[in-house]
Amino acid sequence: MKRFLLPHLICPACLPKEYPLNLTTDREADNDIITGTLACTKCKRRFPIKEGIAHLLPDPDSSPAGAQWRYEEKGMTDRYLWSHYSDLLGDTVIDDSAIQWANCLSRTATAGFDAGCSVGRITFEMANRCDLAVGCDLSHGFIKTARRLAQQRQLDFSLPLEGNLTEQFQLSLPASWRTDNVEFVIADVLRLPFSANCFDQIASLNLLDRVSYPLAHLFEMNRVAAPQNASFLFADPFSWSTTAAPEEHWLGGTTTGPYKGRGKDNVRALLEGKERILVPAWTIAQTGTHAWKMRTHCNHYEVITSEYLVAKR
Ligand SMILES: C[S@@+](CC[C@H](N)C(=O)[O-])C[C@H]1O[C@@H](n2cnc3c(N)ncnc32)[C@H](O)[C@@H]1O
Repeated sequence: MKRFLLPHLICPACLPKEYPLNLTTDREADNDIITGTLACTKCKRRFPIKEGIAHLLPDPDSSPAGAQWRYEEKGMTDRYLWSHYSDLLGDTVIDDSAIQWANCLSRTATAGFDAGCSVGRITFEMANRCDLAVGCDLSHGFIKTARRLAQQRQLDFSLPLEGNLTEQFQLSLPASWRTDNVEFVIADVLRLPFSANCFDQIASLNLLDRVSYPLAHLFEMNRVAAPQNASFLFADPFSWSTTAAPEEHWLGGTTTGPYKGRGKDNVRALLEGKERILVPAWTIAQTGTHAWKMRTHCNHYEVITSEYLVAKR
């Protein structure tokens, strides 16, 4: 874990109170803590740093639940690598949604946060535009891969070509991309280990319908975002499912309840200040749809359309 992250960290278990974490370093190289412990100054809970990865879950012993199991399945990291970086791979088919989303990022932000970053494409895009960028995800495999990419700037991986045949891919980050100012941690987007107001560019892409309590996720994003001069890039396909969240927690897709109707309308209303849950209120600057792809094999792709908005305050 790079040292620049330390001043922004708080104990996720003590929320809504914010207490800083004390660092004990066992091994460090070039301002990167390889092995160590972060301990809450209040509850004394300890969060390990292992192989450079900070584990900042409120309950470090919890195992994946609900919809999270599918991200731990074999091959999922490689499928997300293709989805995030296919434009850099020279494949005949590409998914250019990352470029389209990157074009929605603020050009004046200083600190970026990418929630549910998977293998990190948008986090790297933020790092190219900000002084620092942080991605977080529940998946150890995704965070390990994103961190390796930041360190080595290249990765080999394979995907099914047809039947039992596989196709090899070599991913190299463009020379112009910054990686010195990027970090990836294991954290839960429902209890973020970051202090309030610390990011002026935040992103939540294709995540809202995957978490067990979508409103808590928006609340946390709002908490860590700066109260002014902040930009929020939000996108979701609104594939509500009881595997991820009980129906009473959905923010759309129902005919009754406070969030009946369309998810995109309800998220927009919440950001614009409905019931003053997310304050200060945001102004919607841009809306639209982007399609993104997941490769199954060389002749088969799943296409998902996400509705996005850019909110400013
Ligand atoms: C559909 S993927 C989207 C990944 C990436 N944002 C993108 O648009 O390609 C959802 C991601 O959210 C992560 N995730 C799901 N629930 C989470 C939680 N509670 N905290 C952190 N990450 C979570 C998953 O591990 C997965 O990487």
